[in-house]
Formats: sequence, structure tokens, C-alpha cells
Amino acid sequence: MKESGSDAPPFIRYYRPELDDDQLLARSKKFREELSERRSVRHFSPRPVAKEVIEHVILTAASAPSGAHKQPWTFCAISDPLIKSEIRQAAELEEKQNYGGRMSAAWLDDLEPFATNWQKPMLETAPWLIVVFRQMYTLSDHEEKVKNYYVSESVGIATGILLAAIHQVGLVALTHTPSPMNFLERILNRPSNERAFLLIPVGHPDPEALVPNLNRKKVGEVLHWHI
Ligand SMILES: Cc1cc2nc3c(=O)[nH]c(=O)nc-3n(C[C@H](O)[C@H](O)[C@H](O)COP(=O)(O)O)c2cc1C
Repeated sequence: MKESGSDAPPFIRYYRPELDDDQLLARSKKFREELSERRSVRHFSPRPVAKEVIEHVILTAASAPSGAHKQPWTFCAISDPLIKSEIRQAAELEEKQNYGGRMSAAWLDDLEPFATNWQKPMLETAPWLIVVFRQMYTLSDHEEKVKNYYVSESVGIATGILLAAIHQVGLVALTHTPSPMNFLERILNRPSNERAFLLIPVGHPDPEALVPNLNRKKVGEVLHWHI
């Protein structure tokens, strides 16, 4: 990607090597097989992960498309044990209320297969927490509000790429939403234009980690051809 600057040309050539049909098929199958192995993991090993790895996966996420290229995201990467502990305590306070009556009976029923509860030890065990923020608008140098477009769609796509990158490097993550999540804005001292989008512990899985035995929808349930 070019550096932005006033003498940069408005358009540049874009090139991808053209693959034959067999190569396309083989690559689509391989990528599908690799990404199909991704799971949300709730049991982490405390084994550290290098900061550079986290930077690479976040910059991969930050290469996502976004409405009018506003790139309306901020990622906070946290390994400081004191901040992780503060986040865990605040998340558990919200989750105690969620599991203790704020979530509907139907919602609690839907969560049963996951055997989750208000306790979130992974927020301290995982070596990294990545918090994704949406920038509802951009704050100009003069503190004026500048509009962003399709913020949730853009940040959702960036987070999908982040989760794929984490998986592809050999690590695991949990997409976590201990809502309401405004405690993250406070603890991480974020500016007024940012809203917490997701809290994602990242690391190696605990060697004894278990995941629920889930089925994914069949092709006919998710794909309709119009050909
Ligand atoms: C937006 C979103 C919010 C989620 N929030 C939580 C959460 O707060 N706690 C949790 O344990 N899992 C959470 N999950 C994980 C889902 O339960 C999980 O993705 C789903 O069960 C499918 O399992 P898999 O990711 O292993 O394929 C969330 C997932 C998404 C996409």
C-alpha cells in the first residue's frame, strides 16, 4: 500500500498473478479446510505470544475494506496483567447481571450448550486481549466531528479478517461481548468518538481445551444459486 502524500499519483496499477482453474479450485478448497478448523476457544494457555505477532494480525485486520476508506477502527492490544485484571473484574460485573436476569430465558437456553457463566478467567489467562473499537465519527484536529460511513459493517469485516489471521498463524481467540462494554472505553481511556465493539482474548489453547460439538449449516441452508 502506498504512503499517502500530496505528490502520490491518484491511481496505481494493480496486479495479481492469474491462476488456472485447477489452481483456483485447489486454493479455494485448502483455504476452506484451514478456516473451517477455526473455533471459539474459552480455555487458554498462559504461554506468551510475541508482540510482533499481535501487530501483524492487527495490521492484517486493518487492511480491510471500509466505507469511503475511512478505516473507522482502533485496536487496543493489552498484555499488562493489571489492566487485564481490571477488564476481567468489570466484565464479570456485567456478566453477573447478564446471567442473573438481564438475558432472557430463551437466550440462556440458547447458551446452554456452551456451558458458559459469568466467570471469565480467560481474560487474565490469555496472554493478550485485543479490544476492537468502532469510530462512530472521526475527530478532526480541531475536535470537529467528521462523518464515517457503514461503520459497523467495516469494523465487522476487519474483525473477521482479524479472527482469520489469528487462526492462520496458529493461535486461538474468543469473540467476547460482556455487554454493555463501555467499561472498556473507560479503562482504556478511549476518546469520545469510540465505542467498544468486541473483546477478544488471544493466545495458545490450553492443551486440555474443550469446545462444544457444534454443527454448521449445510450448503443448501446458506447458499442459494441464481445461475
Ligand atoms: C458477535 C459475537 C459475540 C459473541 N459473544 C460471545 C460471548 O460473549 N461469550 C462467549 O463465550 N462466546 C461468544 N461468542 C462466540 C460464539 O458463541 C461462537 O462463535 C459460536 O458458538 C460458534 O462457535 P465457533 O466460533 O467455535 O465456530 C460470540 C460470537 C460472536 C460472533
